[in-house]
Amino acid sequence: MAQHDTGEKSAAAGSAVDRIESSRVSPGTAVELSDAFVNPGLPPHRPRVTDLNPKKAKQAERRVYTLFYVSIIGSVAAVAAYAAIPLVPGDNATLRLSTALLGLGIALGLLGIGIGAVYWAKTLMKAEEMVEMRHPTRGSDDTRERAVEIFQLGNEESGFGRRTLIRNSLIGALIATPIPAIVLFRDLGPAGSPAEALMTTMWETGMRLTQDPTGAAIRASDVTLGSVFHVIPDGLLDKEHKLEEKAKAAVLLIRLKPEDINELPERAGWSYDGIVAYSKICTHVGCPVALYEQQTHHLLCPCHQSTFDVTNHCEVIFGPASRPLPQLPISVDSDGYLIAQSDFLEPIGPSFWERS
Ligand code: FES
Repeated sequence: MAQHDTGEKSAAAGSAVDRIESSRVSPGTAVELSDAFVNPGLPPHRPRVTDLNPKKAKQAERRVYTLFYVSIIGSVAAVAAYAAIPLVPGDNATLRLSTALLGLGIALGLLGIGIGAVYWAKTLMKAEEMVEMRHPTRGSDDTRERAVEIFQLGNEESGFGRRTLIRNSLIGALIATPIPAIVLFRDLGPAGSPAEALMTTMWETGMRLTQDPTGAAIRASDVTLGSVFHVIPDGLLDKEHKLEEKAKAAVLLIRLKPEDINELPERAGWSYDGIVAYSKICTHVGCPVALYEQQTHHLLCPCHQSTFDVTNHCEVIFGPASRPLPQLPISVDSDGYLIAQSDFLEPIGPSFWERS
């Protein structure tokens, strides 16, 4: 009997296992049909001290706008510290002081807004729990009207329109906070006027043309017909910011038959015995124009295929560049070396605001 019972139990156990096996589903596809937890509902509403005591509410309001003013002061102090402490290369003490004051000012600027906004929400904005049901993305007209109502209610409850000191100080803090970032970004550009730096290059009267990258001076007799030289100004390799200078002053030197050159009257004398020098910086977006087609006398920019005709003062014959490559007036000195007659007479490279 006992054995029989055991056999029945085992059979029941076996069939239970079978049921479990047969109802097993792939991971991630099981759906829970019943909610195992009872919704606890919202906790009872407890009014805050600022809801009950107008004096405390006034105190909280003062703290909020004080925090926003602290934010403004922090941002202004960061700019003042940046302007008042000039950085001297090699002077680490000044660098540390400037960095510390900048960090402190920016931290105050951001923390003032952040803490002020949280404190404002916690103490003065209406404390009411609400349940919002899910709904389709675009609401009905009624819903949209309700949204406007809620927005207006939010404005009324937060006191944004009514508490003018808080509102104005917050607007002031939001305006002042990005100012340190703008001032710091200015440092990414060249010292002095960026437009001025783009107007001129290293070239000057009498400066020798030298080979890139060796810096060897070039004699006119070295430049054979059809040859191309990549050129940098003499002395560039000794400059502190040689890459910046090279990015503006790089030149291509080409020798053509003098009769092939269609020289503009105002540029008479800018070339020497068929040798012409043009800026290597593309007038489209500033890539180096590095390809020369000897047969057609075309210079090609590999970036967007702008093509310049060397025989016709490097006018654009194809591609997105809108201006010819600027020409460097050249000559030879008494030793037969090629020299610049002056700097370029127009800004090199792509357009910028102040380019005439
Ligand atoms: S940079 Fe030369 S074509 Fe665009």
